[in-house]
Amino acid sequence: MGHGLLKSLDEERRERRASGESFPAVIAIDLRELPSEHRALCDESFTGDVCDEKMLERLLASYQIGSIYHLAALLSTRSEFVPEIAHGVNVGGTLNLLRIAAEEAANNGRPVQFFFPSSIAAYGMPDLATKTAAGEVGEDQFLQPHTMYGCNKVAGENLGNYYAHHYRKLASDRMEFPVDFRSIRFPGIISADTVPSGGTSDYGPEMLHAAARGDDYACFVRRDARIPFMTMPEAIDAIRRLMAAPKIALSRTVYNVQSFNPSASEFLEEVREHFEDAKTEFEPDLARQSIIDSWPAACDDAAARKDWGWVPTYDLSNAFSEYLVPRIRARYSE
Ligand code: SER
Repeated sequence: MGHGLLKSLDEERRERRASGESFPAVIAIDLRELPSEHRALCDESFTGDVCDEKMLERLLASYQIGSIYHLAALLSTRSEFVPEIAHGVNVGGTLNLLRIAAEEAANNGRPVQFFFPSSIAAYGMPDLATKTAAGEVGEDQFLQPHTMYGCNKVAGENLGNYYAHHYRKLASDRMEFPVDFRSIRFPGIISADTVPSGGTSDYGPEMLHAAARGDDYACFVRRDARIPFMTMPEAIDAIRRLMAAPKIALSRTVYNVQSFNPSASEFLEEVREHFEDAKTEFEPDLARQSIIDSWPAACDDAAARKDWGWVPTYDLSNAFSEYLVPRIRARYSE
């Protein structure tokens, strides 16, 4: 997601600067040094950890920060093996960046925009019967997640709302609304360029990429497992749209979005439309399946549509035919 976002910011940066307009400098931070093609997309990049408060303080001292896009996290499957570390990164890192945003706002006398990618994992459906009966789930329902990652995402959403509306409520020198916090609850995301790792929605992209490579794949959920998905370009488009929306248009801080929600076997049928020899077996891992069963089958994204014009670019069929398959074929034939 970071790479896609840098690319999208870079396109606008080039266009604006070419026509003589200004565009803020883009500064990227990652745990590992960015590859040169990613470095070329930003003005500066640093190696660093969102848990390193001193590094963040140094950045605060060196730059005037207008917007923060905070994408660092351990995903849901990985987090279940190291829940306390996940909490440290997912909540501790978010808190550090929110504090930086609030300090910067106080220094400059204007709010700092903050993007936080939340997740469908914020939901916790109590059981499969409730999930089936619930259908499309609204933003304020079923927020009792079953995973550490989900707990961390709900915490991030709540902290964001606190920094946006209530920060230092009792302090006499408090600034009102220091952080302009905006968040999207993403469904599973499928990219033609990268295979995710450490997530639980990974069975979708793993199945597709394995088929394109001609590899065997053991799908770790049941055939009837159903959650919403979207493509990576749609996720990037959603971030850019939400961040560009006038504040007055936003009725909430956290929004659902989704593009299509096939069952795992419908997903496989679509894969086989393009890779007819796909060698996928279903070998459900009951623990990972239970995570998918706790996530809704569909999300109500009416607020995102109304407030900031969210519309999916793709349905399942044209996501494959127009975006995923042509790029994946090109990638694996290189
Ligand atoms: N894709 C994420 C995961 O599976 C959910 O946000 O952990």
